Amino acid sequence: MRRARPAGVPGPLQMFFQGFLKHPVMVGSIIPSSDRLIRKMLAPVDWANCKLFVEYGPGVGTFCRPILDRMAPDATLIAIDTNPDFIRYLDHTITDSRFVAVEGSAADVERIIAEHGHESADYILSGLPFSTLPDGVGPAIAAATHRALRKDGAFLVYQFSPKVRDFIAAHFTRIDHDMEWWNVPPAQLYWAHKD
Ligand SMILES: C[S@@+](CC[C@H](N)C(=O)[O-])C[C@H]1O[C@@H](n2cnc3c(N)ncnc32)[C@H](O)[C@@H]1O
Repeated sequence: MRRARPAGVPGPLQMFFQGFLKHPVMVGSIIPSSDRLIRKMLAPVDWANCKLFVEYGPGVGTFCRPILDRMAPDATLIAIDTNPDFIRYLDHTITDSRFVAVEGSAADVERIIAEHGHESADYILSGLPFSTLPDGVGPAIAAATHRALRKDGAFLVYQFSPKVRDFIAAHFTRIDHDMEWWNVPPAQLYWAHKD
């Protein structure tokens, strides 16, 4: 369920742009993902067999809402972001008992899902700006993601630079790729399978 925005809470575009101005390197983009990018990225997900979906870098929740629309009533979405302003914004604007917003780093995904009672995730989605993250953080996140996924789970990644593939390929051998031009800027899409 979405809550009507309380007075004084900015709209998502304004909130996202403010976040970019405050932390340009960590946010890595001036506007949220397009609807077409969201639809294409989520299309291969087997929702009937998804009990835990994890999202890294939800920002203002551009993906959270479409994920919740598709998710089963007994599934959980854990969204992890380092930016406390975005976490507060998500808490204010999304009220769905299946949704948990966590302030923290994707590198700690294993601890975070364990703290919420889960052994592994079915799907993990990332909109993180991998190539501009501080040294060592990208590889640590890719390794932790592989460990946190169940067998046959998948890591879904969208990114403006194809360099992100190097981070994923260190742990995943089967990686599908596509592009979405209808996005600012156009994005590389990867689906990495844990076989
Ligand atoms: C490009 S924005 C993604 C926005 C949103 N997912 C979308 O599709 O419009 C990147 C997000 O990653 C977050 N972020 C950066 N480093 C992170 C980390 N180590 N762990 C979790 N979130 C991080 C930023 O705060 C920002 O919200």
